[in-house]
Amino acid sequence: MIFKHAFNRDKWSDQETNSRLTALPLEIKQKALRYKKWQDRQACIISRELLQASLQEFYGNNDDYLARVQVDRFGKPFLNEEINFSISHTEELVVCAVAKDVIGVDVEKIREVEFIDFQQFFTTQEWNEIQCSEEPKHTFYRKWTIKEAVLKADGRGLSVPLNKVAISNHSANLDGKFFHVETRFLSEDHLCAVAYQS
Ligand SMILES: CC(C)(COP(=O)(O)OP(=O)(O)OC[C@H]1O[C@@H](n2cnc3c(N)ncnc32)[C@H](O)[C@@H]1OP(=O)(O)O)[C@@H](O)C(=O)NCCC(=O)NCCS
Repeated sequence: MIFKHAFNRDKWSDQETNSRLTALPLEIKQKALRYKKWQDRQACIISRELLQASLQEFYGNNDDYLARVQVDRFGKPFLNEEINFSISHTEELVVCAVAKDVIGVDVEKIREVEFIDFQQFFTTQEWNEIQCSEEPKHTFYRKWTIKEAVLKADGRGLSVPLNKVAISNHSANLDGKFFHVETRFLSEDHLCAVAYQS
């Protein structure tokens, strides 16, 4: 697996934005320009740069992969090649993972949350683990990002209820399909989950 991340903390000058946009296929350029907030526009551009760099590294060539990316009916971008990838962005951070396996990534910035509002998204066992954890907030976010990563690997996204993803140790199950899952902190308050099906 190739995994890349980049921070998105500072606003670029117009000149820098334009020069980075120039390197992208028209469709992606148009998508980026539709975003009103600079953070979203830059995240869109950075995610494609990470994807292009990851695919070139994976294949060891300089092909233009971005021009070949398509989007399925659930909004999942894909390539018609034996390669899978997933993108996620949150406040200040963008991640991209490329692998032979079916893969999903999710990154979240850890904030204060009222856990009780989210109970419906967890199984009874998962909810107990959050409640009994020494660090409930981190346990909550670990489970949350894992569920989103699994739904993105699956490809149906949030059209599938989060509580259909059942997490146990280093794996998760969705509709009888098993996914390996890992989480890692990318900064003090950014947590990323990767789910893959080998
Ligand atoms: C995919 C989804 C889970 C993203 O969640 P999110 O936490 O808001 O956003 P993230 O930053 O983690 O991920 C966004 C990226 O996921 C990818 N993505 C979009 N739809 C996807 C899907 N169905 N499966 C996998 N990846 C998907 C895209 O690359 C997107 O980035 P881009 O817009 O720059 O291309 C969510 O938007 C979704 O489920 N979309 C599908 C549409 C849908 O069913 N909506 C019902 C809402 S109830």
